[in-house]
Amino acid sequence: MASISETLLFFSIILALSRAMHSASVVEDLNNLKPPPDFSTTIRNNCIHNPSLRYCNSSDLNEIFKSTIVASHLCNESRNPNCVETFPKIDLRSRPKIAPLYLSFSFFWKYCPLSILSIDLSNNSMKGSFPIDVLQCTQIQALDLSHNELTGDVPIHSFSPLTNLTLLNLSYNYFSESTMSDTEFFKRFNASSFIHSGLLPNQKKFTIKVIILLVGFPIFVILMVGCFGWLFFVRPDFLPRVFRRENKFTPSMLKAATDGFSRENLVGKGEGVDMYRGVLRDGTQVRIEIYRDDISRESQRRFEEECKVLVQLSHENIVQVLGSCSRRKLRAIITEWMEGENVEMWLSRSAPSWKHRLKILMGVVKGMCYLHEEWPEVGYDLRTSSVLLSDNLEPLISRFKVGDQSSSTRKIHKIGVFLLEILVSSRLSDESKSGEVRFIDHIRKHYPGNLREVIDERMKMTENSFDQAKQLIRLGLMCTDQSSSHHPHLSQIADIITRAYESWNVLASPTHKRSPGDKGHKRIQSR
Ligand SMILES: *[C@@H]1O[C@H](CO)[C@@H](O)[C@H](O)[C@H]1NC(C)=O
Ligand SMILES: *[C@@H]1O[C@H](CO)[C@@H](O)[C@H](O)[C@H]1NC(C)=O
Ligand SMILES: *[C@@H]1O[C@H](CO)[C@@H](O)[C@H](O)[C@H]1NC(C)=O
Ligand SMILES: *[C@@H]1O[C@H](CO)[C@@H](O)[C@H](O)[C@H]1NC(C)=O
Ligand SMILES: *[C@@H]1O[C@H](CO)[C@@H](O)[C@H](O)[C@H]1NC(C)=O
Ligand SMILES: *[C@@H]1O[C@H](CO)[C@@H](O)[C@H](O)[C@H]1NC(C)=O
Repeated sequence: MASISETLLFFSIILALSRAMHSASVVEDLNNLKPPPDFSTTIRNNCIHNPSLRYCNSSDLNEIFKSTIVASHLCNESRNPNCVETFPKIDLRSRPKIAPLYLSFSFFWKYCPLSILSIDLSNNSMKGSFPIDVLQCTQIQALDLSHNELTGDVPIHSFSPLTNLTLLNLSYNYFSESTMSDTEFFKRFNASSFIHSGLLPNQKKFTIKVIILLVGFPIFVILMVGCFGWLFFVRPDFLPRVFRRENKFTPSMLKAATDGFSRENLVGKGEGVDMYRGVLRDGTQVRIEIYRDDISRESQRRFEEECKVLVQLSHENIVQVLGSCSRRKLRAIITEWMEGENVEMWLSRSAPSWKHRLKILMGVVKGMCYLHEEWPEVGYDLRTSSVLLSDNLEPLISRFKVGDQSSSTRKIHKIGVFLLEILVSSRLSDESKSGEVRFIDHIRKHYPGNLREVIDERMKMTENSFDQAKQLIRLGLMCTDQSSSHHPHLSQIADIITRAYESWNVLASPTHKRSPGDKGHKRIQSR
């Protein structure tokens, strides 16, 4: 206990001095007081008796003296019972005005008196990082830093020299969460030392996080799956192209494209079919044929098979099928949009010229040949009303039927009727609706002598074009002749129409000088 008495001896001098100075503030004392003349002798004597005193290996007498001044003030501020005899604690609890000041005297902490066993700096709203100077008092048994606003890391490793420390309180601070949660340090002190210190993961928060994760993640997954499922099955047009099934449309997509199947977008009605104009999400205008009849699963499967074929058709005289929608209660075929009218309307409204009519026949035959050669299983409903016209007057065959086993005779018959309808006056073709047979018979009666009565008079035909028309009517009659077993073949029909078309182009060309060797022309004339 020699050390303590020596220290106290040392304090007595200082206390006497400071009292003499009328209890000025610690800062004033530090500025004004000079070490007494015998100060170095006192220190040397103290260190001879107790070399473990912290100031004994320092030669800075001025600093040692200053630290004794701070010690004397701090002893008094800490309400120690007798600052002359003992100095066991630094109690600056709830002293926010002076606690930071005393912490800033780093020389004091460097020579931290060995008598101090307890340091309480709690409830001072102290900001900044951990006051590491305090840990130089390695002999302390209790340290309370609770109820402050300290931030940053706690220097856990600097606690290891404090072997007598049993009471530590870092609660209610804002330290960074420790990454070393299972070191010796946290075993030495129990959780009540770190309540709301920020240092340990908050158990409650942690539990909440875990619960949120455990409950939230599956919900998130379910939502994602639901969302993706909805997109995939209901609105695939919102998905990136790679996730979409090409050519597949859903009822919702069609509903969106037609403004909820609005009356304004309804462009036509047929037997069990509604025709709509629609705009897809990417802005493409489409024509949508909707069938709402309830069909069997088997027919639905067949429909799907058909659509798989139809989307593959690609020819300038075939309406491009973009895709289909197949549900039990709603089936649809989506094709490119044609602003123009169909051939039937075109014929009756605009009285087209011979050249234009030939062009239509030419296109239809080209489309037929394409289907005949590449897609023999695809049938089509060839009528003037089902052949659409593109902007540049190209005819487009529409209304297909996959797996249509209708004989080629039937197809030839159809093109025959089509051909006749193109050539004869619209008054007559209107009649054709009441009876095809009567219509054909009527023309047959006028062939060949009275053809001018049946051919559409609005064409204003020249002698040459009249001859061509005559040829073609003959062809049409051959195609529709029920009594004959010898119908022309599609390739022959194509040949005749092609030649007529080409020769007309040659004839119509103003620079053309008719040469006797013009074979194409000759052949048509000679038939
Ligand atoms: C005083 O001695 C201690 C060890 O007892 C040592 O850690 C410290 O650095 C020394 N200080 C000076 C100023 O020599
Ligand atoms: C010690 O504290 C008391 C009040 O607690 C005060 O009156 C006195 O002046 C203080 N002495 C010094 C030296 O600061
Ligand atoms: C903290 O200090 C304030 C005054 O600064 C005081 O009112 C309050 O009671 C103190 N709280 C505790 C827990 O000591
Ligand atoms: C802890 O206390 C013991 C006994 O009082 C003492 O011998 C030892 O030096 C102290 N440890 C430190 C680091 O001060
Ligand atoms: C935590 O430690 C303190 C002091 O060491 C003690 O009073 C308290 O009972 C301990 N609490 C638990 C839960 O162990
Ligand atoms: C630390 O301080 C808080 C708040 O003042 C208190 O609830 C807790 O029990 C203290 N912990 C210890 C180990 O003294």
